[in-house]
Amino acid sequence: MIIAIDGPSGAGKSTVARLLSRELGFEYIDTGAMYRALAYKAYINNIEVKEDTIDEMLETTEVDYSDNKIFLDKMNVESLIRSEEISKYASKISAFKNVRTKMVELQRNIAKNKNVILDGRDIGTKVFPDADFKFFITASVETRAERRYEQLLAGGTAADRDNVLEDIKKRDINDSTREFSPLKKADDAILIDTTHMEINEVVRKIKDFVGGQN
Ligand code: C5P
Repeated sequence: MIIAIDGPSGAGKSTVARLLSRELGFEYIDTGAMYRALAYKAYINNIEVKEDTIDEMLETTEVDYSDNKIFLDKMNVESLIRSEEISKYASKISAFKNVRTKMVELQRNIAKNKNVILDGRDIGTKVFPDADFKFFITASVETRAERRYEQLLAGGTAADRDNVLEDIKKRDINDSTREFSPLKKADDAILIDTTHMEINEVVRKIKDFVGGQN
């Protein structure tokens, strides 16, 4: 079974997907981590974010995701890819066609013959248009920025509230206006606005949908 969870940055997708995967005994695939891993490689190697240079990098780059961990060229990079700088790079790099083709293929392969929950931007529209369940999780941009800000502080990263809000707005624009697989609610996805909801409520709501229809 495939459960697709899409939505904009900071809506709480990955927290919800992680909790849900534990409760349902499904595997979790964090597709954003894959784009972040590529962004990290470009960033530390000073590779210019242009289509041809990134295409070249792709040829000698291996990304993998297993046991809730993201691997870049066989190295676990989970703790290195969550900064705001990498978020910005990831949003730019993920607009390139060959990057998307390679990551989508990887996601389909990893999910093959398994019960999985994937979260991202294009799972319900592109990666698994026939997913058993599709959810589109969103929240007001201010709420998403505030959550992201709290998350950064909790993780020990200094952050500025206004900058975080601006970055989220820019990522929303980048992700939803790009040519290939823009962020978009699939027509048949269930919309959940979490602006006034606690994480546990969201998890319960999704579980009710999944459980209620099986
Ligand atoms: O979800 P997360 O914030 O970790 O994703 C980082 C970036 O990767 C997003 O801003 C988006 O540009 C890109 N992304 C994507 N498609 C996905 C998942 C993430 O384009 N399925």
